[in-house]
Parts: sequence; structure tokens; C-alpha cells
Amino acid sequence: MSNEGVDKGRRRLLIGATTAMGAVGAAYVAVPFIKSMSPSAKARAAGAPVEADISKLEPGQRITVEWRGKPIWLVHRTEQNLSDLETLRDVLADPDSEMPQQPDYCKNATRSIKPEILVAIGICTHLGCSPTYRPDVAPEDLGAEWKGGFFCPCHGSKFDLAARVYKGVPAPTNLVIPPHKYLSDTLIVVGEDGEAA
Ligand code: FES
Repeated sequence: MSNEGVDKGRRRLLIGATTAMGAVGAAYVAVPFIKSMSPSAKARAAGAPVEADISKLEPGQRITVEWRGKPIWLVHRTEQNLSDLETLRDVLADPDSEMPQQPDYCKNATRSIKPEILVAIGICTHLGCSPTYRPDVAPEDLGAEWKGGFFCPCHGSKFDLAARVYKGVPAPTNLVIPPHKYLSDTLIVVGEDGEAA
């Protein structure tokens, strides 16, 4: 009799444990379901923010991610690039970024949150082509004064490494700097505003 009493108690315990496991199992199952709901390809196309990992982006390199169907350039500028930016003022149409082509926190000398990292929408402000990345200094086709930047070959618009437009080219304004913020030193979210660094 006493054994039966123990078995009944044990069965109740097991039933209780199974129920608890069932509840835990259900909670785990819910996680992938929630994940699959966000963000859908449609939401991304409509403008959901995208993350960009720049941990492997070396000085002088550029990577491209896509946000709202547009190429977003992330360029790691060298120390030399940064000192060259100041020397170009006279050849630029809007060296101080007076036109609202960037968030307020990027209206500065480098048009960026961190001086070494440029984040820009890679679409020419003339007719919408995507300029080529030309970090080479003084190449034959761009001239001895070229310090690196972006060149739109279809009609010849030129931009420096802060994505500022040169004078006398078809593009009317600097390239657009999208809203962005840093989640960590090496992880950037494009499509959401953050605080100035
Ligand atoms: S679209 Fe860039 S110069 Fe024509």
C-alpha cells in the first residue's frame, strides 16, 4: 500500500514535470516564429534599417550594403584621406555642406559620425547613376589634383572622399548621407538616427 502511495505521488510529480516542460517547449517554439515575422523582404524594401559590420573594413577600403534598394557605401578613410579633405575646399561646390544632404550630426568637416568612417548613399545627385570608387591619387584620367573620391563616368561628376561634389560638374549637390548610428565600434545601423559621437 505504501508503495502504491509513493507511485501515485511520483506519477503526479512526473505529470507536473511534463506539463512544465511542455510550457517551456512552447516558449522555445515561439522564438523562431517571432523571428520569421521581422523584418520581411517587403519591410526591408520599404525602409527597414539594415546593419553593416565594418570589423573587417581596412583603411582605404569600401564595402556596400543595400538600404531601401539603394547602395550604401561604407568607406574607411586613411589619415592621409582625412588631411586631404581640407585641401579641396576651393574645388568643391558646397565644402561646408550647407545643403541639407546629411543629418545634422553629419554636418561637419568629414560629413560623418566618426572621422574615419564615411557612410553615404552611392547615388549620383545628377541622374541617379552609382559613381565608381576611385581612391587612387592623381590618376591619368582624373588629373594630378585628384586625391581620391567617387567618379560618375556617364557625365563626369566628381565627389571627394566626404562625398562632396566638385564645382562645374553636372551633379548639383553633395551625395546624401543617410541616417545611421553605431551599435558598437564595428556595427552600424543604416536607416535610424543616433546621437552625434
Ligand atoms: S548621373 Fe552622375 S554624372 Fe550623370
